Amino acid sequence: MDSMINNLTAVLFDEVAIRKRIKDIGYELSKVYADKNPVLICILKGSIVFMSDLIRYMTIPLEIDFLSIASYGHSNKSSGVVKIRKDIELDITGRDVIIVEDIIDSGLSLQYIREYLQHHNAKSVATCVLINKKCLRDIEVKIDYFGFEVEEEFIVGFGLDYAERYRNLPYIGILKKEVYS
Ligand code: IMP
Ligand code: MG
Repeated sequence: MDSMINNLTAVLFDEVAIRKRIKDIGYELSKVYADKNPVLICILKGSIVFMSDLIRYMTIPLEIDFLSIASYGHSNKSSGVVKIRKDIELDITGRDVIIVEDIIDSGLSLQYIREYLQHHNAKSVATCVLINKKCLRDIEVKIDYFGFEVEEEFIVGFGLDYAERYRNLPYIGILKKEVYS
């Protein structure tokens, strides 16, 4: 843990703040989606921590599935190239779908996923993002629910990685520039 902490410039959101925010989103989704039996789709791998907390704060019947896309590789910039690595298994025809994503940066990933799921004839597709990175988006994507806003910094923890590491940090911090540049 120590070696990971030493590579951060600051902790942005601690465990208490994150839990409180996810609890609020969970309750809100429970109200909006009451009687809809929504399908929450976790975008692997970054969103597993967010997803597993979020569903435990939801008090309504729901189903979950997983989608894995390739876009970033080991770099810290979006390649713009998105492809499906692991597809969903549920039939989402006529279903109310909620995409659960760790972070939106350029918007390329989320836009691709939203269109992909719409083509599966979902009744509705909403986006629920833990971190909304304030930046000039390549594409404007509608974000229906989000946890926190951050500036254009590279952040890790709570599922978010740099080169596959740091996902297990229970909080979110800013990665030192010298680590990735
Ligand atoms: P986008 O397609 O540029 O919006 O990128 C979204 C994806 O890039 C996320 O699902 C993350 O995997 C990754 N990403 C973007 N910004 C960060 C960051 O600050 N830390 C870790 N991963 C990030
Ligand atoms: Mg991701």
